[in-house]
Amino acid sequence: MSDAKKKNGRSYIVRETSSGKEFELASRSGTTGPDVIDIRSLFTSHGLFTYDPGYGSTASCESKITYIDGDKGILMYRGYPVEQLAGRSSFIEVAWLLLYGELPTQAQLHEFDRSIRTHTMLNETILRLFNGFHYDAHPMAMVAGVVGSMSAFYHDTTDIHDPRHRDIFAHRIIAKLPTISAAAYKHSLGQPFTYPRNDLNYCSNLLHMFFAVPAEDYHIDPVAAEALDLLFILHADHEQNCSTSTVRMAGSSGANPYSAVAAGIAALWGPAHGGANEAVLKMLEEIGTVANIPKFIAKAKDKDDPFRLMGFGHRVYKNHDPRATIIRETCHKVLARLGRNQPLFDLALQLEEIALKDPYFIEKKLYPNVDFYSGVIYRALGIPKSMFTVMFAIARTVGWVAHWREMITDPEGRIGRPRQLYTGPTRRDYVDVSKR
Ligand code: CMC
Repeated sequence: MSDAKKKNGRSYIVRETSSGKEFELASRSGTTGPDVIDIRSLFTSHGLFTYDPGYGSTASCESKITYIDGDKGILMYRGYPVEQLAGRSSFIEVAWLLLYGELPTQAQLHEFDRSIRTHTMLNETILRLFNGFHYDAHPMAMVAGVVGSMSAFYHDTTDIHDPRHRDIFAHRIIAKLPTISAAAYKHSLGQPFTYPRNDLNYCSNLLHMFFAVPAEDYHIDPVAAEALDLLFILHADHEQNCSTSTVRMAGSSGANPYSAVAAGIAALWGPAHGGANEAVLKMLEEIGTVANIPKFIAKAKDKDDPFRLMGFGHRVYKNHDPRATIIRETCHKVLARLGRNQPLFDLALQLEEIALKDPYFIEKKLYPNVDFYSGVIYRALGIPKSMFTVMFAIARTVGWVAHWREMITDPEGRIGRPRQLYTGPTRRDYVDVSKR
């Protein structure tokens, strides 16, 4: 039994107020973070469910991958603070760490990097799938569809009970996501597809596939590749968020892992989740000038207006999002090093400053999240708005795969199947259509 599974000796008494009947629920401790009350026998022993829409107080699984303390603004991958990884590691090293639990040795890192570089090509038939999409299809729709189709091409990696299959799947999907994403981008432009180059590292290769054309040489800007690598480290995992929980849920049925990741991509697309980075840029463009900021802040505060300040607020972070802090600093550096004057960044800084002084945002603990500044960097790198959430998906694929692997090998794992509080009609008899 692992440390995290040990009962901690503490328990909680639940008392039914009208009858006074009581029962006890044991709690369990993780290595850090709040204890959890183990309610697994609640229904079988006491005929009760718990009610927690949005799962704000529910631990859906045990995990050893990522830890967040939302009040202190802490994010750690396998125990390593994200600030240290962002400053000193690389996306490929972080990918290994998330997948296998430890920092790789030099030999392991070299071999993993080689494996990822040599799995970048796509089966040519997959490339032909893109011709079935209209040129103006959203890239997220194309990427979700094509990733979903991968189980039809890579049968040799869909036996979820075979550790070797699971490994090859992991390397394949991490390696091929940039290629699929670049193909979606090229399709939307009507440009020929650019094949991957295995002599390039992960992010340089991505820039090459996005921006190179057969007609001329393309120079990869190392500043751009470095900035992308940093953004990918920050987006690589975020414990049981909506898309990761979707991957775990879809995978819990025993579905092939490509389908589970495709489900995660679909969930990520929503504006409350990964779609926020695209929505932030649209919002900044709509705001346009500093003079318009108060109008938009007022809209965000108006209960009768569905508008929200995109890139603000987080379910878990109630102090600051450590990723946003790093990305804000990176914005300054990247824009200066690329020699780009970015009026939208200045506008974002002003918007942040005004919002953070506003009592509404202070009281509700709404701070800029990871998506508030990431779009500004992507834009400076020449990546169009419609591709922002795809960039998030490329990085988060590592987290999805790490969680899927953990879920598949969890001895306590069961198919995900929540219960409900039913408030619909009680039993009634069918009435023939002639009598209605
Ligand atoms: N602008 C204005 N008001 C907000 C905002 C916002 N961005 N976010 C939350 N609120 C208000 C909300 O109206 C509610 O007010 P009240 O208590 O009076 O009803 C209160 O703050 C709590 O909000 P909630 O919706 O109950 O909080 P949640 O934990 O369910 O949602 C969130 C978190 C991220 C979905 C939400 O803050 C939001 O919609 N933010 C904008 C979208 C966004 O930036 N998403 C990216 C999240 S980070 C990256 C990722 O997860 O992929």
